[in-house]
Amino acid sequence: MGGSLAAALKARGFYGRIVACDPSESEIALGIEKGLIEAGGCELAPLLDGVSMIVLAVPVLAMESVLESVAANIGRAAPDVVITDVGSTKGTIRESVVRVFDRMPASVVLGHPIAGSEKSGVDAANPELYVDHKVILTPEPDTRTRALERVRALWQACGAEVLEMSVERHDQVLARTSHLPHLLAFSLVDTLARQDERLDIFRYAAGGFRDFTRIAGSDPVMWRDIFIANRDAVLSSLDDFEAGLKTLRAAIASGDSDALIATFDRASHARRYFGTLLSKTSYQAEYHMHSQQRVTYRVQPGGQAQGRLRVPGDKSMSHRSIMLGALADGVTEVKGFLEGEDSLATLQAFREMGVAIEGPHQGRVTIHGVGLHGLKAPAGPLYVGNSGTAMRLFAGLLAGQAFDSELTGDESLTKRPMGRVADPLRAMGATIETAEGGRPPLAIKGGASLKGIRYDMPMASAQVKSCLLLAGLYAEGETRVREPAPTRDHTERMLNGFGYPVSREGDTCWLEGGHTLTAGPIDVPSDISSATFFLVAAAITPGSDITLEHVGMNPTRIGVINILSLMGANLAFENEREVGGEPVADIRIRYAPLSGIDIPVEQVPLAIDEFPALFIAAANAEGTTRLRGAEELRVKESDRLQAMADGLAVLGVEHTLVEDGIDIVGRTAGAGESPSYAGGTVDSLGDHRIAMAFAVAALRASSEIVIEDCANVATSFPGFLGLLERIGMTAEEARA
Ligand code: S3P
Repeated sequence: MGGSLAAALKARGFYGRIVACDPSESEIALGIEKGLIEAGGCELAPLLDGVSMIVLAVPVLAMESVLESVAANIGRAAPDVVITDVGSTKGTIRESVVRVFDRMPASVVLGHPIAGSEKSGVDAANPELYVDHKVILTPEPDTRTRALERVRALWQACGAEVLEMSVERHDQVLARTSHLPHLLAFSLVDTLARQDERLDIFRYAAGGFRDFTRIAGSDPVMWRDIFIANRDAVLSSLDDFEAGLKTLRAAIASGDSDALIATFDRASHARRYFGTLLSKTSYQAEYHMHSQQRVTYRVQPGGQAQGRLRVPGDKSMSHRSIMLGALADGVTEVKGFLEGEDSLATLQAFREMGVAIEGPHQGRVTIHGVGLHGLKAPAGPLYVGNSGTAMRLFAGLLAGQAFDSELTGDESLTKRPMGRVADPLRAMGATIETAEGGRPPLAIKGGASLKGIRYDMPMASAQVKSCLLLAGLYAEGETRVREPAPTRDHTERMLNGFGYPVSREGDTCWLEGGHTLTAGPIDVPSDISSATFFLVAAAITPGSDITLEHVGMNPTRIGVINILSLMGANLAFENEREVGGEPVADIRIRYAPLSGIDIPVEQVPLAIDEFPALFIAAANAEGTTRLRGAEELRVKESDRLQAMADGLAVLGVEHTLVEDGIDIVGRTAGAGESPSYAGGTVDSLGDHRIAMAFAVAALRASSEIVIEDCANVATSFPGFLGLLERIGMTAEEARA
């Protein structure tokens, strides 16, 4: 460790003198020969003359005797000398310092670089050893700031990242992350070696053995010292490990494959998460990185709208399949799961609450349900990215848990209203804190005893309804929700599918707490909201003919079909069937001229996500299309009324924006198939549906449409641009 420190400093141009003390003369000679040190010797006292910093790099149990000679000769060092160390345990070293100096001097800064190799000696000195590694410093309250800063600067100069923590925390953390793995490696190698004295068995050892046991080649003296020095913390981590091993042993003995898969899956994901941390891309960081990447679409004007397509799985159902699957008893197999960022965030959140989930792999996910009361407290806040659905549904579900939790999201989500769920949940007895104005993050107190309520929703929101029904699973008595207009009913249908009774009469649905969910297979149909972009593409393009396969046709989702039909679109439904309690069909659409209409207000909640695309249909319909009663569009991933109005203005489409809607004056292709509007550059404001709507608009534009800020298309529609190309459009994306 000391050799590598000297090598790192020299390699980075340190111009001061480095002297070393070591019991071996040949090591000192080698250090001088390699240019790592200027001088050295086996006796400490003369080497201390005028030094400004002393770094103790000796085995932990040798530390006290070295400290004694330092203390006896400290007068030879510079007056502001700083003493630090590289020992792997800190509690015992602090005790030694206090014994030797009668107190903890303000100039002593204990430290521990989390780096090293199984090799030791000057020959193993590596100037890169500390680069991108962490160094933990454990200053005391009265440590001199200047001393701390100098030790910090020393390690930063070697390329390390410096952290601070208390001595106690350091020893606990290191017992688990370093000392325990070393103990296991020493023990495994020794056990196997003793079983086979000729060590023949190692000839057949595979990569697993090599990877697991590399550290068993480490310095025995150093590690003996560490285990003796950090005895209590090591013993407690060993107890936890033995308990885990015992559980696995029992699962193997009884052939409990669910328990094995649950443990391995949790571990495998935790290991991958650790891997992403190592490469500095945690799920959250990756997500942020991705959404902060500027993705621009360039879509060429004109093109065709032809072909048979299957768009990805339904987003609302994908979220719910994971949520209910996790809370069910038994194993839920999901097909058609949307591998978009929103539903993946939900999946990840359940993993963080201890649920074993296999996949997704080509839309297949296997969820090992833990039952209504089997979730575990997550280690930190649950991050749900861009997804309002995840945040609101989680709020209900987490309000019923025994543990505290926190929900956070990306910048867009942070602006969205959560009072609409926090208020009724509070009325049920939950304790929820929001940021100012009822915005995320949400902090939810665990252990509340919830009571069912009758709630008259002030807005038609499936998310609010679903949130309350999920809280109702944990509440005493009945939870009843009345909706001012019908909203998507996937939660009710899926709960029934899992054998949980939910009733409905007219505009009110209700359930009673205390029943259980039983796992079963789920087949998620294609998302009608994603299909909409291709319905509109065909509806506005002369000569078009598109068939969309296996689309969910739930009556609470088909506002777009009703509205396009009223505008004169030529739609046909084939292969109509029911899959897992949800109606499904193949939708064929061919070009027919569209006319502007007054959109019936009762269709608004049934087409709430489809308006950005429907506005493009309106821009290609003869006359005026009028939308009212759609103020909810202002609180989606963006203010969709404003974002669409701004984009339509760029294209030169006449429109009037009002508080709860818009009038759009459109024109059809007409004779000679002349374009309906201009091209230009529009800003999607990071809203996936705005981006996709303007991409489709290019079919009828006179020149290229450039759409900015499109990264979030990946939240709901991975592969969108590829499908645009498939129908006969020309589009590309640029990332910056
Ligand atoms: C959704 C409900 C709708 C919709 C959202 C998904 C759901 O939101 O806009 O994309 O899965 O429950 P509201 O319920 O807030 O209208």
